[in-house]
Amino acid sequence: MRRRLGGVLDAIGRTPMLDLSKMVGKRGVRLLAKAEFLNPGGSVKDRPAMYIVLDAIRRGELGQGRRLLDATSGNMGIGYALVCAALGIPLTLVVPGNVSPVKLDLLRYLGAELVVTDPLEGIDGAILKAREIYEANPKAYFYADQYSNPANPLAHYETTGREILVQTRGRVTHFVAGVGTSGTLMGVGRRLRESLRNVKIVEVQPEEHLHGIEGLKRMDEAIRPAIYDQGFADERVFVSTEEAYRMARDLARLMGVPAGPSSAANVAAALRVASELEQGVVVTVLPDSAQRYLHLLKSWGLT
Ligand SMILES: Cc1ncc(COP(=O)(O)O)c(C=O)c1O
Repeated sequence: MRRRLGGVLDAIGRTPMLDLSKMVGKRGVRLLAKAEFLNPGGSVKDRPAMYIVLDAIRRGELGQGRRLLDATSGNMGIGYALVCAALGIPLTLVVPGNVSPVKLDLLRYLGAELVVTDPLEGIDGAILKAREIYEANPKAYFYADQYSNPANPLAHYETTGREILVQTRGRVTHFVAGVGTSGTLMGVGRRLRESLRNVKIVEVQPEEHLHGIEGLKRMDEAIRPAIYDQGFADERVFVSTEEAYRMARDLARLMGVPAGPSSAANVAAALRVASELEQGVVVTVLPDSAQRYLHLLKSWGLT
């Protein structure tokens, strides 16, 4: 039982596990997906946002009007914005201009100050700008740096990973997750490996360098997260933007699951893993909802 923290913080985590085994169509192979889009901020990132903020408060890095500063492609920002609003902490977010307009509006609505960077430079451009803002005035900010902050994978180790063990009664054989900061993959992966010696960890990355799977990162790009261990996963699967978007529609139309492109990339990769098994329990996560990407799905002619 987790300690009650009060307000919206108590609604973070403990998400349901959806049974998508019908998509595999094999008797002995189950496909399960954690519905992270049901978190109050609408994504998996509520979990690390809460851990990072609470850890910084505990260590005396936040409080007395100090602003939390970070670069985000949107979802972590929404997590920070909820938690910071609930705890009275001022927030500055650096966001690439290609983030969906719905996310930007929601961030402003939750009271965050936004610095929008060149969409062509993606998340790496936002990270460089956040570092610049921090270095110009280090006393005014706590630079949360979700890409290096150990509280990010710790959130998944202590909550997501533990929940997966409980919800599968320890029967998970494969865990499949896309990497952005890599917090989900590293934290859940460590927790599962600790309890299940033979569990296989499968990492998902976008196939193209210029891709449309928001939240995921090609790890051969310029800025590699400090929390990421390149040798950690047992297997790496690449998914194209087109495959992710088509799978997003399949999930909606065939399963009634309104999942976003990174969720669909995870499911596409999990189905590839499942297709090679005779027996197994493949678990993945659905980081956010299709609702945030309807404009993009529409531009692909998929709505
Ligand atoms: C929609 C979406 N999917 C996947 C991820 C990747 O999660 P992680 O940062 O834990 O690797 C993120 C991270 O921001 C995200 O926003």
